[in-house]
Amino acid sequence: MRLPLVAGNWKMFKTVQEAFVFAKELGPLVKDITDVEIVIAPPFTAIHTVAEALRHTSAFVAAQNIYWEREGAFTGEVSAAMVKEAGAEFVIIGHSERRRLFGETDAIVGRKLQAALAAALTPIVCIGETLEEREGNQTLAVLDRQIKNGLDGLTADQVADTLVLAYEPVWAIGTGRVATNSQAQEAHAHIRGRLRQWFGAHAAENCHILYGGSVKPDNIEGLMREPDVDGALVGGASLDVQAFVEMVTKSRPATL
Ligand code: PGA
Repeated sequence: MRLPLVAGNWKMFKTVQEAFVFAKELGPLVKDITDVEIVIAPPFTAIHTVAEALRHTSAFVAAQNIYWEREGAFTGEVSAAMVKEAGAEFVIIGHSERRRLFGETDAIVGRKLQAALAAALTPIVCIGETLEEREGNQTLAVLDRQIKNGLDGLTADQVADTLVLAYEPVWAIGTGRVATNSQAQEAHAHIRGRLRQWFGAHAAENCHILYGGSVKPDNIEGLMREPDVDGALVGGASLDVQAFVEMVTKSRPATL
């Protein structure tokens, strides 16, 4: 069974102090929730603080990015081993903002994915089409390309046991325009079908596929009820601890 996973992507928000306050509030609020995996992705600077504050709670910490080399003369970059040591267990890879603003390609996503796995980080790999691609009926072809090229070289066991995918239609990110439940389900079912074809049934059934793009407390339940939506990657609405906890609570299997 795939336990629901709700991840908050803070992007470039919150100082160390603000992150600490959030984490200290979050811990007690989710202490009895064992049927949802909870992940918070603060900026690099706050990873250690948040991980320490969430120690002995059920919530995990993610980095929002890594570089693929282990160490070296790469000014400004941070390695997988470094974020792991700081307390991260997960890492977001290939977010559309990284692809669009920082030139990340599927090949780069693949290298970062290998680096994450080598450092025993759970990768959350983001895929999704732009508005132009959707309107040009390219959605499924774009997803195929991103999956095929980005996941190249992964074993079926890695897909089954470790990989998390996040379907994030670019037109829904930060726009307030959420995909309809059926649009999300259609894309997720397609992605799972491709995983089945390329990595086998076991990998496809075990891999988490999250939805991301304007998820809020008032739309998460409908999305979570779709059979192939296994959780959410939440940006803006994850910055408020009460809203975040509400989304976690509404994702619990018993409440759906
Ligand atoms: P949003 O961002 O929830 O603010 O739309 C989602 C994301 O970028 O992961």
